[in-house]
Amino acid sequence: SRQWRGIIEEYRDRLPVSDTTEVVTLREGGTPLVPAQVLSERTGCEVHLKVEGANPTGSFKDRGMTMAITRAKEEGAKAVICASTGNTSASAAAYAVRAGMVCAVLVPQGKIALGKMGQALVHGAKILQIDGNFDDCLTLARGLSDNYPVALVNSVNPVRIEGQKTAAFEIVDMLDDAPDIHVLPVGNAGNITAYWKGYQEYAADGIASRTPRMWGFQASGSAPIVRGEPVKDPHTIATAIRIGNPASWAYAERARDESGGFIDEVTDRQILAAYRLLAAQEGVFVEPASAASVAGLLKAAEQGKVDPGQRIVCTVTGNGLKDPDWAVAGAPQPVTVPIDADAAAERLGLA
Ligand code: F0G
Repeated sequence: SRQWRGIIEEYRDRLPVSDTTEVVTLREGGTPLVPAQVLSERTGCEVHLKVEGANPTGSFKDRGMTMAITRAKEEGAKAVICASTGNTSASAAAYAVRAGMVCAVLVPQGKIALGKMGQALVHGAKILQIDGNFDDCLTLARGLSDNYPVALVNSVNPVRIEGQKTAAFEIVDMLDDAPDIHVLPVGNAGNITAYWKGYQEYAADGIASRTPRMWGFQASGSAPIVRGEPVKDPHTIATAIRIGNPASWAYAERARDESGGFIDEVTDRQILAAYRLLAAQEGVFVEPASAASVAGLLKAAEQGKVDPGQRIVCTVTGNGLKDPDWAVAGAPQPVTVPIDADAAAERLGLA
């Protein structure tokens, strides 16, 4: 028995590194694939959750970031920069610490969850809040990396996609083949691009007998791919996917079309219902954006688009602790009791 070594060491021959590349890792990946009992019952399918909140900084971004920071270090970069709705910045900040680099992050003012801001701060990133949305932050980050000595670690950097494709490898390795359907939340559209690449590579090499249909879900107020045009002022409570002009738009459409899948939208209400179901009935606490995949699966099932008996994997992308406001909001206040067994038993309904 040995510890999981991180995605680069585990999948080294499938990633753009050389034998001499010095790996920057927090031993990301190797995340749980959890059978979802209630979702399986509701859909008549075999549903699994790929729990990416179990990564070192609490989101799937770590898979891409170990690659991006490893390569930036190899190329001699002293500083990295990213635009982020929160998780990319948390991940970049942590991996930059491991690499001894300066990390700059550009985030939309007032629109990133507290936990993510806390991570970037405690890892010592230089944070600029931008008076704009994620799309504005990305434009700015690209301009800065073009003109100043700082490496861009957003998913427009192709090695990020290479790292993130390993999640598809892990799923096939666990299930001994690709699922019938893979469901993901879609924001900047890097992750759906990455999973599709991973599934295609495994199928091409005969490790999987097929590829899954890719189903992506955007939040209704931030659904440019569904609308067929950029959204100028995107809104959703799922701040991680509050994006109006995804960088990997064309790749996401390719994943959708080549796989025979679709990209649809879910409302904030549907997202929050799935968020609560996951926590209260599956025991899996995710952040709101992550619940978009499950909300989408339930929507598709209600529309009769889910044939029973299929094997389905939903990626839940980030940890619920990132954005706990939504867990507390609307929940009943805990009651206070004296240090007294009878009083406690009575309040618990045991007496
Ligand atoms: N889920 C979570 C928790 C995310 O943080 C993101 C993206 C997505 C889903 C969507 O993935 O962009 O590859 O389609 N977060 C980015 C960030 C934008 O800055 O952390 P995508």
